[in-house]
Amino acid sequence: MGECFSIRQATVDDVDGIYNVFCSVQLRGEGLDDPEKGFLLSDYKNNPGFYKQQIEDLIEEYIVCEEQFSGIVAAFRGGVLDNPDFNNGWKGSPYEWDTEMLEGLGIIDVDAVGPVGRYYTTAVHPEFRGRRIAGKMKRFFLQSDEMRIAEYVVSTIVEEIFVEGLPQSMKNMASIGSNSKLGAVKIGQSSRYRCTKTVFGDNVELIVGLYITPVNGLRE
Ligand SMILES: CC(C)(COP(=O)(O)OP(=O)(O)OC[C@H]1O[C@@H](n2cnc3c(N)ncnc32)[C@H](O)[C@@H]1OP(=O)(O)O)[C@@H](O)C(=O)NCCC(=O)NCCS
Repeated sequence: MGECFSIRQATVDDVDGIYNVFCSVQLRGEGLDDPEKGFLLSDYKNNPGFYKQQIEDLIEEYIVCEEQFSGIVAAFRGGVLDNPDFNNGWKGSPYEWDTEMLEGLGIIDVDAVGPVGRYYTTAVHPEFRGRRIAGKMKRFFLQSDEMRIAEYVVSTIVEEIFVEGLPQSMKNMASIGSNSKLGAVKIGQSSRYRCTKTVFGDNVELIVGLYITPVNGLRE
């Protein structure tokens, strides 16, 4: 990271900076963008009040990577260990499990996996890509006191979107590539379901992949 960047827990003073990063990665909503860039689906730009409030409400779950002198460049939020709401969200349906991958990780029963850390949305401003910032934030997340007992990090990734009226789907190659590089293994996939309130309106279907990363390989 050198002397130019620092990674730290976010504070309420970072709400605008985090919001700006989210805006920098949202899709234009006119046709399909370059999948290599990665994307988030929500329409952050048109709902500043709503999203800034949402960020502020969950500020303790955000980590920021800040460039000295210029401010925040990247943000993600990580969840709470053994969060019952979260466990309900990934251990049950709607995922189709990849039993071969699960076996490869030594997981016989998904319901018995734990403790896990939930890793939420990652976004790096386009100007600061390719500097391993995403990986450094994930390692920082694992160093927190709460995460010390975690055996796995689990993330859901929007892998592909299908927009009504557009001929082709779009994959999120940046997200898939970045997670795989950090040792994440895909263990399940949801069937296509409809997503509302996106930059494309309410006519978007998603394929969501569920990825799990053993933390041993990530801890420094
Ligand atoms: C995904 C994202 C966070 C990666 O951030 P980053 O800091 O540039 O990624 P890193 O520098 O840590 O990249 C590490 C590895 O990830 C992989 N990777 C990164 N960007 C990639 C891309 N566009 N396509 C394929 N692989 C990619 C590469 O293997 C890279 O390793 P390398 O440098 O040895 O080639 C960033 O592209 C982004 O913010 N995209 C838009 C938002 C998004 O899609 N977020 C993910 C949703 S959960």
